Amino acid sequence: MSEFQAFAVEQYLSETEHGVHYNFSESGVHPMSYAELIELADIDQEALLANLVDYPQVNGDEALRERIAALYSNANADNVLVTVGATEANTLVAATLLEPGDNVIRFSPTYEQLAGNAHNLGFEVRTVDMLEARGWAIDAQGLEAAVDQQTRIIHVVNPNNPTGRILSEADRDLITAAAKSVGAWIVADEVYCGTERHCDEPTPSFWGDYGRVIAINSMSKAYGLPGLRLGWLVAPESLIPALWRRHEYASITASMMSMKLACAALAPAARDAITARARGLIRRGFETLREGLKVHGGVYSVVPPEASAMSFVRFNLPLSSDELAARLLAEEGVLVIPGSRFGVEQHFRFSSALPDDHLREGLARINNLTGRILSKV
Ligand SMILES: Cc1ncc(COP(=O)(O)O)c(C=O)c1O
Repeated sequence: MSEFQAFAVEQYLSETEHGVHYNFSESGVHPMSYAELIELADIDQEALLANLVDYPQVNGDEALRERIAALYSNANADNVLVTVGATEANTLVAATLLEPGDNVIRFSPTYEQLAGNAHNLGFEVRTVDMLEARGWAIDAQGLEAAVDQQTRIIHVVNPNNPTGRILSEADRDLITAAAKSVGAWIVADEVYCGTERHCDEPTPSFWGDYGRVIAINSMSKAYGLPGLRLGWLVAPESLIPALWRRHEYASITASMMSMKLACAALAPAARDAITARARGLIRRGFETLREGLKVHGGVYSVVPPEASAMSFVRFNLPLSSDELAARLLAEEGVLVIPGSRFGVEQHFRFSSALPDDHLREGLARINNLTGRILSKV
């Protein structure tokens, strides 16, 4: 059995983020309060509070699964399994699909939830790079070389964490062709769908592109509701029972209250209001970040994210990403995620979909430390 691999990004977050004032390590938009959610989604509080604190339907409340299915073409409630966040969905998929001898393809940098699970279950994980010099496009030759008859899953995070890149049509086609050539599953983690910076059309799902697709999503990122711990997967109906059986072991079910709140938030009018809030924060926040990074010319650069609240910022300073992140935390109370946690040096991940004053103060602090580092070079 291969050695246990910790989830580098999540370990860093859970060990550092508690109590940090200037927290730029998140990946979703600034969370909303329950009161804001109730108002935006026009929720009847009395009806909500009348619900029993009981186990809900284990695979997901019927009304919620119908709302989720309506977000996908040619899906119905029976294609949907509601999970405890996208986290559980990624975990169930690895445990359900993989059989001895299989390998998994992942793109790097990425959020390693599915790949890490596959590794810890003893499966080979093959890495295909995404190339910063080409705006984080995938390395087509690398993909061709990595895929073989034992490839069971091609795991894609689209839009990507940490780069915010949306796959081009050409890259999508390459991935689908590669999967089709060996009958592999495309497992598409689409939690940043709906966070686009340049258009109001959500990034199209992989669902429907090909028969062997599992699409994963959640309320955590584009909806700003991570504390609901409510996610889902959409899969061919024939695969749902096997995933559901593992879900009974993993968590039994998401909570009743989260299902009710998610169902209200996914009603068309509520969803429009919530995504408009997210897009406003994302679009304003990135422009503020872009300005803030210009203060020390030549030090910071970024391939502008096409979606998500995150930017994967490159820095040109004589210290490692761990050292820079540690100094930001210790000297300025600012938390970012060092690129090392994604296997990429001289970068950090920074979330800018935050209230304006807070964001500006955090950027000023980063620039203060940058000035001190430069004065000693
Ligand atoms: C790509 C991706 N998938 C899944 C998750 C976890 O999502 P959830 O909160 O729905 O479990 C994250 C969280 O950062 C993520 O970035």
